[in-house]
Amino acid sequence: MKKQRAVVIGVGYIGMVHIQELRRLPNVELAGVVDKNQELARSIAAQYGIAHYSDSQSVLEDPKVDVIHNCTPNREHFPLNKAALLAGKEVFTEKPLALTTEESQELVMLARERKTRCGINFCYRYYPVVQEAHARVAKGELGTVYNVLGHYLQDWLLYDTDYSWRLDLQLAGSSNILADLGSHWCDLAQFITGLSIEEVFSDFRTTLSLRKKPKGGEALTFSKTQATEFEELPISLEDYGSLLLRFENGARGTFTTSELAAGRKCDIEIEVYGSQSSLAWRHERSAELWLGHRDKANELFFESPLLQSEETRRFARLPSGHPMGYHDAIYNLFADYYEYLQSKACGKSSELNFPDFEAGHREMLILEAAMASKEQGAWATVARDS
Ligand SMILES: NC(=O)c1ccc[n+]([C@@H]2O[C@H](COP(=O)([O-])OP(=O)(O)OC[C@H]3O[C@@H](n4cnc5c(N)ncnc54)[C@H](O)[C@@H]3O)[C@@H](O)[C@H]2O)c1
Repeated sequence: MKKQRAVVIGVGYIGMVHIQELRRLPNVELAGVVDKNQELARSIAAQYGIAHYSDSQSVLEDPKVDVIHNCTPNREHFPLNKAALLAGKEVFTEKPLALTTEESQELVMLARERKTRCGINFCYRYYPVVQEAHARVAKGELGTVYNVLGHYLQDWLLYDTDYSWRLDLQLAGSSNILADLGSHWCDLAQFITGLSIEEVFSDFRTTLSLRKKPKGGEALTFSKTQATEFEELPISLEDYGSLLLRFENGARGTFTTSELAAGRKCDIEIEVYGSQSSLAWRHERSAELWLGHRDKANELFFESPLLQSEETRRFARLPSGHPMGYHDAIYNLFADYYEYLQSKACGKSSELNFPDFEAGHREMLILEAAMASKEQGAWATVARDS
């Protein structure tokens, strides 16, 4: 078995998660890292005993590199993903896939032309009981889906001294929180129910429209700035958003997201109500799946390689009673992605349902509709992907 040689580009918060999970996979060799911050990349390379590339171009020109993991800020996703595909590399990218639907469409077409599937890190799908939720809905256990409700709340941008490139239009694109947290939740909602979101009505707010950016460089995501001097900056990107949703079968939904929710660190909640029963999952208790019934007692299902449905057992990698976590969900996703690459290398087809550029493009289309709805103050239709 040839190991796939992977390079991680961007070694901030999520790049380090990629590094750690790639190292767990038997069919991958972590070959090197790149970061705009050379000192950071050099120290990570030394720590892990891997190559330090001076820039992305040198990675794309290295014939020994098979796969790039694009963990840079949003603005770099499209140009780097495109350049990597054109250079004949496989691509696993962070979300959002691009800044516009024109760009995301181009990446979908390019991947098709190259006869490959590229991965995107919609990792929350890969918790064992989220896969179980998907399987149960697909088997019809809930009946017809009527409603999908939920939120994704964080508090790391609560104070006006909290600053991130995610609030910079040039680096993040036209949306902060909806592109960032909303794309995860909408992917989850569509994955669990198997239903596409077809129409949205949105409301956004930039609650803190003036923030203090640290002088001398901002901190990496989720870390505290050490700065003592700040410059005041006007902010136009939203820190709050709500969506009303209509799904393809007529089901209705609501979603709210905020980065100003004190005490909520990474609180994702999704509830699916059907004609027979319902289910609910919450990230802060990610090993549990709540199953709701009308005529008998409700159940709390705990992830288990013994008790889950046949098709989802492989995602529960620890003995029953031992909860998995965020790193393991990403490991599960990477495992599927690299299994796909291995099948492809052997000329075999693969049925694995990992999130790919098409899923990333769908999220961009939902975002585009949400932005249009905000502008028009009306329902907006999500364009169909072609
Ligand atoms: N899937 C998830 O759960 C998840 C979680 C966090 C972040 N993300 C996504 O990952 C991306 C990165 O977010 P983060 O939180 O790690 O940010 P971060 O600011 O912590 O790290 C970004 C890193 O990229 C480097 N960088 C910037 N431009 C570069 C370039 N042109 N070439 C090489 N390196 C460059 C920066 O120096 C920094 O080290 C974002 O697009 C974000 O949406 C996804």
